[in-house]
Amino acid sequence: MTVPKLALSDNTGEALAKTRADVVVIGTLAGEDGPLLADGAAAVDAAFDGRLAGLLATLGASGKAEEVVKIPTLGKLPAGVVLAVGLGKAGDGVTPEQVRRAAGAAGRALAGTDRAFVTLSELDLQAAVEGTVLGAYVFTAYRSEKGDAPVAKVDFASPADGTSREHKATLKAATSIAEAVITTRDLINTPPNDLYPASFADRAKKLAEDNGLEFEVLDEKALKRKGFGGILGVGGGSSRPPRLVRIGYKPAKAAKKVALVGKGITFDSGGISLKPAANMDHMTSDMSGAAGVLASVVLAAKLKYPLEVVAHIPLAENLPSGTSYRPGDVLTMYGGKTVEVLNTDAEGRLILADTMVRAAEENPDYLIETSTLTGAQVVSLGHRTAGVMGSDDFRDRVAGVMRATGENGWAMPLPEELRADLDSRLADLANITGHRWGGMLAAGIFLREFVADGLDWVHIDIAGPSFNTGAPWGYTGKGGTGVPVRTIAAVLADIAANG
Ligand code: BES
Ligand code: MN
Ligand code: ZN
Repeated sequence: MTVPKLALSDNTGEALAKTRADVVVIGTLAGEDGPLLADGAAAVDAAFDGRLAGLLATLGASGKAEEVVKIPTLGKLPAGVVLAVGLGKAGDGVTPEQVRRAAGAAGRALAGTDRAFVTLSELDLQAAVEGTVLGAYVFTAYRSEKGDAPVAKVDFASPADGTSREHKATLKAATSIAEAVITTRDLINTPPNDLYPASFADRAKKLAEDNGLEFEVLDEKALKRKGFGGILGVGGGSSRPPRLVRIGYKPAKAAKKVALVGKGITFDSGGISLKPAANMDHMTSDMSGAAGVLASVVLAAKLKYPLEVVAHIPLAENLPSGTSYRPGDVLTMYGGKTVEVLNTDAEGRLILADTMVRAAEENPDYLIETSTLTGAQVVSLGHRTAGVMGSDDFRDRVAGVMRATGENGWAMPLPEELRADLDSRLADLANITGHRWGGMLAAGIFLREFVADGLDWVHIDIAGPSFNTGAPWGYTGKGGTGVPVRTIAAVLADIAANG
């Protein structure tokens, strides 16, 4: 999908009297005795002679989060409709995430509208832009009937504070961030018959070329030559062979070097340790980490971060066949460690181990790895909170940033006693513990074995948060969500600012 055409606008009575928007979006807050108007609604309220809040109350509005109420303007404004969206209760002010979710709900409700004027940006411009664009997102590439088109043009009310130059810069950054999330969602939502290792690599190559990035892809022959036993083992069961993509952004002056690694299983059937049939289709999303880091390195280039950012993306399809790897196999990983495969469905950690060793060869200052790694993540933290593991300080920093972005992550430990449970009868380690307990953490412990000593690293398990199998909410529709792209963007910005 393409992003709507976005612009900034004044939010005065005169501006409203001239707007060519079809719908004006205002925010409401949940007050003690009914809805209150949020900042940004004053000019619209004036056109209604100050009676807007009362009118909304009459219609049963409360201002609760994501409530959408539409009022015809009956000639009071050239726009035909005022769309009031709930922000919920204002605590010490309205948070960016409240604005993002309300804008998302409005973005969804604007389907079929040509042009909208959004005033939520007076509360927070970046959050309003991200929320509106992401809420408006739909993936209809595979439908004959596309339904109502997403809103095509959006004008955002300029916030009262800050200069117009600053607002333009914020609009541009927020647009690029939303585009990166959409690129990620599009990749996740593309079905596995069309998105497989080679076709993913082709799409990465196109993005690299369009954005002037370094690009390299290893095919199965090169992977064999160089000894990527994990990627080759996992990818061996599919007629569509594995790949390893490297895509790099290197500005003239880079203060730090950040390696990104994302799990790219284009479909995870479990392999010989076959998954049950129910919901196996969700495993089309098992390349969410790969999509996220690909979009993130492109974003780093677009936003010209003063950092070297390199994404390493292992791509494989995990299928059962006569050429599959089997439970009992021992794989020699990139770098030489050996792993006994006890379950072919614990495949993500195998392709990631190879890739994390490869990434560390370039001596990055930080390693950020993200993957739909374990069902245990969903058991522990649910569908909307990622599990964040890694070296203590960097893990806590990333988890904090993740909550600030509204993507939500929680720091999780790597309990030392679980390491012994990965001991193997034959090899340096096994790919599973043989029990269910702490499954998310055990996967993190496995990965840690492949991280260079002293490297600041983080593993973000996004099994739940990357793919929405429920109803749309806030700025998140069904399917791929784009988590953790906004977190990676914010962590990169934080590293650029603070080292
Ligand atoms: N891709 C799955 C994890 C997953 C599960 C992601 C549900 C999203 C939703 C991963 O490859 C997997 O199968 N993990 C196994 C590991 C187990 C065999 C130790 C799991 O979690 O069951
Ligand atoms: Mn699996
Ligand atoms: Zn998987």
